Amino acid sequence: MKTILTPLLCALLSPVALASQVEVQHWWTSGGEARAVEVLKSMWKAEGNQWQDFAIQGGGGKSAMTVLKSRALAANPPQAAHLKGIELREWAGLGFLRDLDPMAEHLGWYQAMPPVVRQTLSPGGQLVAVPTGIHRVNWLWINHRLFTAQGLAVPESWGELVRVAEQLKEKGITPLAIGNEPWQLAVLFESVALGEGGADFYRKAFLQLDSATLTGPEMIRVLNRFRQLRAFVPSSFVTLKWHQATNLLETGGAAMQVMGDWVKGELSAGNYRPGEDILCQPAPGSQGLFSYNIDSIAMFKVRDPAQLQAQSELAELIMRPAFQARFNQAKGSIPALEKVPMQGFDRCAIRSHQDFRQAQQEGTLLPSIAEGMALPTPLQQALMDVLSAFFNDPAGDAAATAARLGRLIHSAKG
Ligand code: BGC
Repeated sequence: MKTILTPLLCALLSPVALASQVEVQHWWTSGGEARAVEVLKSMWKAEGNQWQDFAIQGGGGKSAMTVLKSRALAANPPQAAHLKGIELREWAGLGFLRDLDPMAEHLGWYQAMPPVVRQTLSPGGQLVAVPTGIHRVNWLWINHRLFTAQGLAVPESWGELVRVAEQLKEKGITPLAIGNEPWQLAVLFESVALGEGGADFYRKAFLQLDSATLTGPEMIRVLNRFRQLRAFVPSSFVTLKWHQATNLLETGGAAMQVMGDWVKGELSAGNYRPGEDILCQPAPGSQGLFSYNIDSIAMFKVRDPAQLQAQSELAELIMRPAFQARFNQAKGSIPALEKVPMQGFDRCAIRSHQDFRQAQQEGTLLPSIAEGMALPTPLQQALMDVLSAFFNDPAGDAAATAARLGRLIHSAKG
């Protein structure tokens, strides 16, 4: 069945009512992520359209971005791709992305999105992508059964988390499920920075790139706390992917994980109840703060009218409240539109939704550095490399690392 389109949308689209075909690039390949993609795929196909899947393994999307660059350089980009945050600005600046402003204006999309979503997706004033959902990054996930069996309380600060982790380790239980990928470590670092340093420190260091904050005593404290957590990683640390880490958490092979709420897609796919079997808490010390990661699909410029039509139809489908509800229930995120009812979402999503609104009011919504919402991509990569080298070096010096961060930012500022 085809969607009922408004007259202007019909005019924007070609009049041919044939099946539309679209190729979509993404890195949603874990169990939970694949279920979310299936929601989009099945709603698209239910309207008589065809879906060409271009999925690239690798959490965090680094490999997907490398492939996208080589396809774009070969003048063969996919029609649609999962692209987000600062990279939207970078790709749009190079002239690769279709301007979705005419659709957005006519269909009232700007008003339908929370301000932070609107701003992220229209870096030059015009919409260049449609949002699929809002993930919160600063979460601590806890194996409830394990904590209860050990008589442990949920840690409210990083100091408490370290004490709990030491107790777990003494009992032979791995405290923290995490793998040695720079982006996984960056997610952990970001939560430590928020919890130990607070919102002002985070803003000054990573949004304003203030040299004194980047190299100062607070940064040194944050770095030391971050590296202290190296003692609590699993024996499989070197090769562990984020979803395998979640699997450890689910099965009691580890007690905690610090990761964005795409974890929740994984839990549901494995029939674990988020907020019950696995507890969700804002990462220690970051209650009231919300570091966000907005997922979106951008459309690459095409000339073929049939392809243009397919893109428009896909964008229109993604912007439907019914899609947003189903997709985000599977993905672990919350809808990226204002008026989507939260019935049917799990406890952690309800909490995320409430906290998002509160942070929006209080000005404590913070763009995630680990998830490409804050820093230019080369700088983000360089920062993640410094952090990961430090985390893995037992003789690493926090003061020297802070000085390295300062130099890095200084050279990036030119
Ligand atoms: C994406 C999420 C994805 C996660 C793990 C993040 O960068 O925004 O949608 O689930 O990576 O692959």
